[in-house]
Amino acid sequence: MTDASTAFVTAFGSEPTGRWAAPGRVNLIGEHTDYNDGFVLPFALRQRVVAAAGPSSEPGWTVCSDFAPDPVTFTSTEIGAVEGWAAYVAGVVWALHDAGFDVPPARIALSSDVPVGAGVSSSAALESAVLTALVDLGGLDLPVAARPALAQRAENVYVGAPTGIMDQSASIRCEQGRALFLDCRSLEVEQIPFDLADAGLAILIINSNAPHQHVDGEYGARRKSCEEAARILGVPALRDVSPADLDEALIKLDDEVMRRRVRHIVTENQRVLDTVGLLRAGRIREIGPLMTASHASMRDDFEITVPEVDVAVLASLAAGAYGARMTGGGFGGCVLALIDVGEAERVTAAVAAAYAKSGFTAPTMWSATPGPGACRLP
Ligand code: GLA
Repeated sequence: MTDASTAFVTAFGSEPTGRWAAPGRVNLIGEHTDYNDGFVLPFALRQRVVAAAGPSSEPGWTVCSDFAPDPVTFTSTEIGAVEGWAAYVAGVVWALHDAGFDVPPARIALSSDVPVGAGVSSSAALESAVLTALVDLGGLDLPVAARPALAQRAENVYVGAPTGIMDQSASIRCEQGRALFLDCRSLEVEQIPFDLADAGLAILIINSNAPHQHVDGEYGARRKSCEEAARILGVPALRDVSPADLDEALIKLDDEVMRRRVRHIVTENQRVLDTVGLLRAGRIREIGPLMTASHASMRDDFEITVPEVDVAVLASLAAGAYGARMTGGGFGGCVLALIDVGEAERVTAAVAAAYAKSGFTAPTMWSATPGPGACRLP
């Protein structure tokens, strides 16, 4: 990861005004619940996007990065035409304009160590870093709580990905040492203490390195199916179906696939609430079975896992993990395994061996602790 300040000086020949950082995330539990107005519980990774930024005397915005060779410049009349990685930047400028903000012309140099295509929200980290930088640079009056929705609009409307509000909320609102309990309907948050080291635990992240396939189409199909089910059931969103109402709701749905999608969302929301209850009581170890049940639900009912992540879950459980599950949108990406801190090497070796036996590309693994959300760097 090139230092963003150095990249700024090299590209623009002057010092930046400052540096702003926004992290990638993993979701401890609560998958595909965000666009169903439900609950999620992500935490921020240490890996982050850093944006070194400063004002520009030229009209428009110029952005360069350590993940693409050429800088991109766009003016306010060209905002709609930006493609590729810079679309996430232009999308943020567009969303700010659309919300009535006057965004000052700026120059931005980006650097990132958030893995791309691993389901840990590298794009939300990019949007959130740029948004935080532009808000500060321009002195814009945009409260922190309102920022995720704006970054989400950049992704939904500008980039065209029909994602929920979890990733941008995590990147912007997470706090170090805590998991972010977010109610995706009210957008209320509670910072839940998640001190793994204190409990002698670690979260091992296993990047399956499985090639993402049909992600966008499958994601959109899941979302449609949930919205259609809510319509048939006569509720604003599947959030409004409680576990106690589930059997009755399922009887009203003719389609077997739709029934399974609904069952995942309803049970997953409850698993988030149960996980939060255990964490509030300081019983971290006991969330393991909820994580594993979440994985089974994603595999059997929501059908978003792939063999690589299923093998990682099974292998880490067999090696003694308290719980394990895929995190993120699915069809590849990462698995989280809750383990005793001293077991990381053993579990890592067991997962690597299981991958080799299955003939899969080797996974990438590291232990994660909850890091801070978006901020200006000193
Ligand atoms: C992706 C989306 C999120 C969320 C997750 C699944 O990361 O960007 O909004 O829906 O998938 O939980």
